[in-house]
Amino acid sequence: MKDTRVLLGVTGGIAAYKAAALTSTLVQAGAIVDVIMTAEAERFITPLTFSSLTARPVYTSLWDAPERIPHIRLVREAHVVIVAPATANILGKLANGVADDLLSTALLAARIPIIVAPAMNSAMYEHPETQAHLQTLSERGITIVAPESGFLAERESGVGRLASEERLLDAIRLVISSGNGVLRGKRVAITAGPTREPMDPIRHLSNASTGAMGIALAREATARGAEVTLILGPTALLPPAGVRTIRVVTAQQMFDAAIADATGADLTIASAAVADWRPAEQSAQKLKKSDADLNVRMVRNPDILKTLGERKGGTFLVGFAAETQAHEENALEKLRNKNLDAIAVNDVSEERGFGTVENKLTLLFAGGEREELGTGSKPLLAARMLDAIAKRMEAAK
Ligand SMILES: Cc1cc2nc3c(=O)[nH]c(=O)nc-3n(C[C@H](O)[C@H](O)[C@H](O)COP(=O)(O)O)c2cc1C
Repeated sequence: MKDTRVLLGVTGGIAAYKAAALTSTLVQAGAIVDVIMTAEAERFITPLTFSSLTARPVYTSLWDAPERIPHIRLVREAHVVIVAPATANILGKLANGVADDLLSTALLAARIPIIVAPAMNSAMYEHPETQAHLQTLSERGITIVAPESGFLAERESGVGRLASEERLLDAIRLVISSGNGVLRGKRVAITAGPTREPMDPIRHLSNASTGAMGIALAREATARGAEVTLILGPTALLPPAGVRTIRVVTAQQMFDAAIADATGADLTIASAAVADWRPAEQSAQKLKKSDADLNVRMVRNPDILKTLGERKGGTFLVGFAAETQAHEENALEKLRNKNLDAIAVNDVSEERGFGTVENKLTLLFAGGEREELGTGSKPLLAARMLDAIAKRMEAAK
């Protein structure tokens, strides 16, 4: 998002307060955000909130701006305009060419991509008139981030909640990466999550991975226009919408899926925490408890990354190294042994990594370069990681 210029239109709905959180996230991601508020939006939230977050003036009127024609300048300078939340009113105005305030006039003057994120009471959203407006806007190439179902301000459940911030960000990224993204149209395979190695029908050996990092990478790669296959081990987390997901349980199943789907991919990222060993025997019945100790013989699982490295072809192959000591040394050895193009080093000794919200990553490349991705949320690091990888893929062309 760095240096992306986003024009954010805020209209008069209850969800207007969520536009403040979106603004903050965009600013933190390096975007330059200009905000236009309708007069009705100002009844819900003040311009001061947005000017404080963006450190830029907020535009509320066609007539009060310091220069004469702010609607033209604002849409010329921005890369994308997003209206979030978008009232039924602004959808109707945009669909019908009404330009009676700064936001509706700017939208009509826009030659940049437009995204609208409707939020309203379900009866308003489902009204044939609103649906017809959305249909018209969609036919004109405007991106609509559909609202979600859930608890509405009217204390009832229904469709009409503003889409999650993640979906709004996905839509912005997708729109700005269209056409020029290195990953656009590329085949990307990602493994994520833990594996489970059963001992009997109810017991298994596993690890603390949740798959959050791989899921964030899948979401980010999809937003950049890639065709993503996510091979996901057992986790309670949901895969991103629109990503082809193959659910697996054991390391052997993950191996089979990875060999079938990652072979021939443009980019493969192996972020799954695959069990290296599995119990040699799997009891068909629950093992009976006794007072004696239990010795379990473990046998080696197939090495997914090594096999992918041996059959790499033109794939840009990236692994993860979750290490508790001698991080970079061990990671570099893994990079060489497995014929990888890059490895993300994840320090799991500092209460980061598995199951945590924050992560800390360093990316090491086969050519010897290194890129510190820093500390941050997994979605943020996923974006930085794909930026760095895309740069190398482009350079390797
Ligand atoms: C308390 C309250 C909440 C409202 N929430 C919404 C809403 O979530 N979505 C919507 O489309 N309209 C909502 N409205 C109606 C709009 O504010 C109204 O249609 C207004 O004219 C929209 O103006 P604007 O589109 O220029 O911002 C709400 C009105 C009130 C009084």
